[in-house]
Amino acid sequence: MLRILCAIVLFAGPQAQVPRIWDDARLADWATPLATLNVRPANFTSEEYYRVPADNLRTYPVYPPDREPPGYWEWLQAQKPQPLVDAAQIQTNDDWVAAGKRAFIELDSVLARTNDPATIARARDPESFKGVYTLADGSVLDPRWVVTEQGVMLTMSDCSNCHMRARPGADPLFAGPLASWPAEMPQPRPSGLPVFEFFGRAFSRLFLDEPFGMAFWRTMAAPWAQDERIDLLRDMTDVRQIGPLFGGNTGTVPRTNGSPFHGTKVPDLHVLRYNKYLDSTGTHRLRGPEDVARYVALITGADPMEFGPHQMLTPEQRRVPYRFADEVLYAIGMYLLGLEPPANPDTAPQNVVSAGERVFVEQGCGGCHAPPDYTNGRLTVAEGYEAPPDHPNRDDVSGISVGTDPGLALRTRKGTGFYKVPSLRGLWYRPFLLHDGSVAGLDELFDRERLSPEHLPGGWKEPGTERRAVTGHRYGMDLNGEDLESLLAFLRSL
Ligand code: HEC
Ligand code: HEC
Repeated sequence: MLRILCAIVLFAGPQAQVPRIWDDARLADWATPLATLNVRPANFTSEEYYRVPADNLRTYPVYPPDREPPGYWEWLQAQKPQPLVDAAQIQTNDDWVAAGKRAFIELDSVLARTNDPATIARARDPESFKGVYTLADGSVLDPRWVVTEQGVMLTMSDCSNCHMRARPGADPLFAGPLASWPAEMPQPRPSGLPVFEFFGRAFSRLFLDEPFGMAFWRTMAAPWAQDERIDLLRDMTDVRQIGPLFGGNTGTVPRTNGSPFHGTKVPDLHVLRYNKYLDSTGTHRLRGPEDVARYVALITGADPMEFGPHQMLTPEQRRVPYRFADEVLYAIGMYLLGLEPPANPDTAPQNVVSAGERVFVEQGCGGCHAPPDYTNGRLTVAEGYEAPPDHPNRDDVSGISVGTDPGLALRTRKGTGFYKVPSLRGLWYRPFLLHDGSVAGLDELFDRERLSPEHLPGGWKEPGTERRAVTGHRYGMDLNGEDLESLLAFLRSL
């Protein structure tokens, strides 16, 4: 499918065709129905979506003012708005990928933009950047400048804010899995420009100035699976109160339609190409770059938050707040599906890896984690769920449950009833495992101690709970020392 698409793009003549992303026919069977409601989440219609003018603006790095290249600030003031992705400049596949890479890093949170003079003054004050981490070119993560028709505004990066893995001594691996920020590195965010300020501004614009707690509740409440901890969120009055909901976690982020009480791991996008579905619960089909593009539109605002009879937004809030041009969305799709995990530079000796591969085969891991992608692309059922025989995704459904925590798959708006079989490629550098990132690496996954209620999870911590069993996925847990060691060596070579 991807190859056919690429061929079309390649031979389309000098300027590449931009596919129409928000297409009603392609949207019709895109989402997976919710298990408890037996309906698909609603989408805006193509007509509603394209009524909104397209946003397509380049953004520029923010430097601590005392480390800025000479004349940078003046140069920026003189710029006219430039397209983030210019379709007229794209001819080949490689052009799409290069444009998408830049767009992924530069894309900003449109509703967070501001030209408030006091905020801009803070971004021009070296004090705001004291002790902050800088990239090799001297710029910082998070805040960005954007040149608009109204002049230079301050904004915040979107995708690269979460999908980024720190690497001591090198720039972050963008699109990599979120890990703990190494203690030996300077703090990642400029203290004078806190993230919650940008996030709070975007939120109040999206929810038309509704009090914060109520608005936040709307992004996560699932009235058909009531959770009083979620209902209590309505009492929050300030965006800073969401801090404890992160529970000190670094690899997971409470996501719209998810829940702070059922973790969602920030996945490694270098293995996206091996998937047939998006998100750990397989919320949407992944048929090619257009589906990634649609997903980007959805998570950046084109989400009516409507689930069968449950309308989570007021009629005024239910709108497409802004949209990115199709070429921006498609370029990101092409970039992400072109990624592959970097190879492990330090694998075990070949005889140990081969012995591990034999253990992998003997243990039947390949039935689900089938080579060469190390996934069969299927949806396993969450514990307690049985997919109806006429389920629209039945061809991809496996009746087996691996028995991991069923909360995300059954009690949230991402609750399809399924967990997809993840690819095992790139495991050697992935910091957190399982859909909720509960375990910190392979050693913990294969350690029987994690099944005890006294276990202290190395990964995601449920807010308010310290010790708990990390249940399920018991494959390979009875292996003896040598077999386990070689299995782990094999897994770390993928
Ligand atoms: C606030 C943090 C955050 C931001 C910002 C963010 N993501 Fe994600 N992303 C996540 C989390 C968490 C998940 C996992 C969700 C799940 O499994 O249900 C995810 C999942 C995904 C997936 C599905 C991956 C898979 O393996 O199925 C893609 C693709 C993706 N994000 C791309 C993007 C792009 C592109 C952007 C920018 C427009 C972006 N994300 C912005 C946190 C974020
Ligand atoms: C019946 C299918 C099935 C079998 C058999 C199976 N797995 Fe899995 N595996 C899964 C599913 C599904 C998940 C994700 C579960 C979740 O996220 O809750 C998973 C997750 C994993 C993960 C974590 C990956 C990540 O990205 O989070 C590893 C590692 C893993 N399996 C290795 C193995 C090994 C090694 C074996 C054999 C000893 C094995 N699996 C057998 C279905 C299976």
